[in-house]
Amino acid sequence: MKLAIPKERREHERRVAASPDTVKKLIALGFDVVVEKDAGLMSSIPDHEYSAAGAKIAADAAETYANADVIFKVQRPLHAAEGGVDEMVLIKPGAILIGILSPFTDGAMIDAYAKGNITAFAMELMPRITRAQSMDVLSSQSNLAGYTSVIDAASEFSRAFPMMMTAAGTVAPAKVMIMGCGVAGLQAIATAKRLGAVVSATDVRAVAKEQVESLGGKFVMVESDEGGETEGGYAKEMSDDYKVKQAALIAETISKQDIVITTALIPGRPAPVLITREMVQSMKPGSVIIDLAVESGGNCELSQPGKIVLESGVRIVGHYNVPSRVATDASALYARNLLNFITPLMDEESKTLNIDWEDEIITGTLLTKDGAIVHERLTEGGN
Ligand code: NAI
Repeated sequence: MKLAIPKERREHERRVAASPDTVKKLIALGFDVVVEKDAGLMSSIPDHEYSAAGAKIAADAAETYANADVIFKVQRPLHAAEGGVDEMVLIKPGAILIGILSPFTDGAMIDAYAKGNITAFAMELMPRITRAQSMDVLSSQSNLAGYTSVIDAASEFSRAFPMMMTAAGTVAPAKVMIMGCGVAGLQAIATAKRLGAVVSATDVRAVAKEQVESLGGKFVMVESDEGGETEGGYAKEMSDDYKVKQAALIAETISKQDIVITTALIPGRPAPVLITREMVQSMKPGSVIIDLAVESGGNCELSQPGKIVLESGVRIVGHYNVPSRVATDASALYARNLLNFITPLMDEESKTLNIDWEDEIITGTLLTKDGAIVHERLTEGGN
């Protein structure tokens, strides 16, 4: 069975879907692995490391995709209307495509997978069950994004993070606030603490309190009887009354902060706006806001994707694709997630795929099969 690792072609993407380590393990599972030339270049993985691991290096996209039975991607393939290489026409009917496929923002691609008889798995839909933790791309990538957000904040900030008592005087520690304490937020808290900042954090899910405190952060939360958590453990959209109370709490707290890192997301909805222009204007000049939710609409009213906006001396940072900023580690963990996904699908003896189509890991991630759209969140409403 041929497994292809094409070069990523979408803007702002530096990751790659396999590492030399996973290539070795994929070969041991029984795959012939083909990696496109320069696929790992932006993640600092040269072609010769893939060849040394046993992969064949293909000269271009056409050679990489040709006759591939399984394709590992980071982002969804390009199609003709987007310009550049039309990757969709290179995928053979019946092939399995595994990646972060953004099924709810790019519906046209889902139709194209079905039409092309491609069996497509969206890794970001992985159910959050214990068995699937090692396949959870949202966790592996958010964790690195949380870390990177603090490093980005430190480099935009013209002061130091830790308290320093020197002969020339004392440097006060930076005050950092994290909004949204999921995977990214918790790693941001841990990273800011390690750098010596005084850290506070907020979330709508009350369970986050214990996690924040165990990392040495102070938890601040709206006093309300309204539970902020769905049965699946995610945040829900809060009532207007709650939003008013939360805005008052943030307005009161934010003016005292040096750095604010926002990570708040609500699955399937635009990110909640937590920081208004007035709140930004209440901050001290030199303060920094890092909006990790910028690509989902943004937690700060003023943030813009791919830009650093300056407002009243406050820098509002909205980098694209933050995990890609630490591409080597992000690729290594992502590659592991994919390896952990495919390993149980391989039959050890026959070295062929033997997929249990009823398994919740499969039904949770499978978008299209046998020419049809099959995921329940896509077929709801007769789509
Ligand atoms: P996420 O990326 O969907 O959201 C980030 C954070 O923003 C969440 O903590 C959310 O509660 C918060 N948020 C949403 N709206 C907000 C608002 N208006 N104000 C303040 N905060 C707001 O979250 P992520 O990282 O996916 O984690 C969600 C949950 O899933 C967490 O409880 C996490 O511990 C859990 N989880 C479970 C895993 C498992 O395998 N069992 C794996 C990874 C995460």
